[in-house]
Amino acid sequence: MKIFIDTANLDQIKKAHELGIVDGVTTNPTLMNKESGKSAEDIVLSIVNLVQGPVSVEVIGRTAEEMTKEARKWFAMNPEHIVIKIPMCTEGLKAISMLHEENIPCNCTLIFSVNQGLLAAKAGARYVSPFVGRLDDIGHDGMKLVEELVDCIDYYEFDTEIIAASIRHPLHAKQAALVGAHIATIPLQVIEKMIQHPLTKKGIEDFEKDWAEFKKTSK
Ligand code: E4P
Repeated sequence: MKIFIDTANLDQIKKAHELGIVDGVTTNPTLMNKESGKSAEDIVLSIVNLVQGPVSVEVIGRTAEEMTKEARKWFAMNPEHIVIKIPMCTEGLKAISMLHEENIPCNCTLIFSVNQGLLAAKAGARYVSPFVGRLDDIGHDGMKLVEELVDCIDYYEFDTEIIAASIRHPLHAKQAALVGAHIATIPLQVIEKMIQHPLTKKGIEDFEKDWAEFKKTSK
């Protein structure tokens, strides 16, 4: 499973990138809004230069024409790495289909059903992002959607990857891996929790203590 980091914060991306586990980045308007004082272009270009992998940038237009116009502008900034995030809706599907014709990769976002994901893949989305945490929040099984979408996409051999998104805790990350999500996009605070285990911490402390005792008596 590839790991993307779900943030527009360069410091957080740097921290995860140093671990050697980051394959890409997803941003959205809410995440961009946390990075006040910088231009959107500067934020995105800094991320792309650091990560050198797919970086999803979301359009805000409501019509296919507005979306594709924004998409072309973003894509031109770095055709190798920029992916256009398009919300699931009628105009979004039209935009994905048009951008697919132009070989501009899209990440169809705000996916909450298999049918939405299937339509996005058929329209030519390179990535489809089911939102696990937001489904769990309303009493649905978000990870079941990821599992069903992976089955559907793999069964029909779409050239599309499923990104388990809206990941809230380490259990989500583990479940995404076990159901075969192609990618999980994970916030830094969850990645940091994935590293930790109380027995690992205790093991390191015990080894350190025992080594110090050994050094006192060794020749
Ligand atoms: C995905 O690409 C989105 O940016 C993100 O995962 C949304 O997560 P949230 O539900 O925690 O806002």
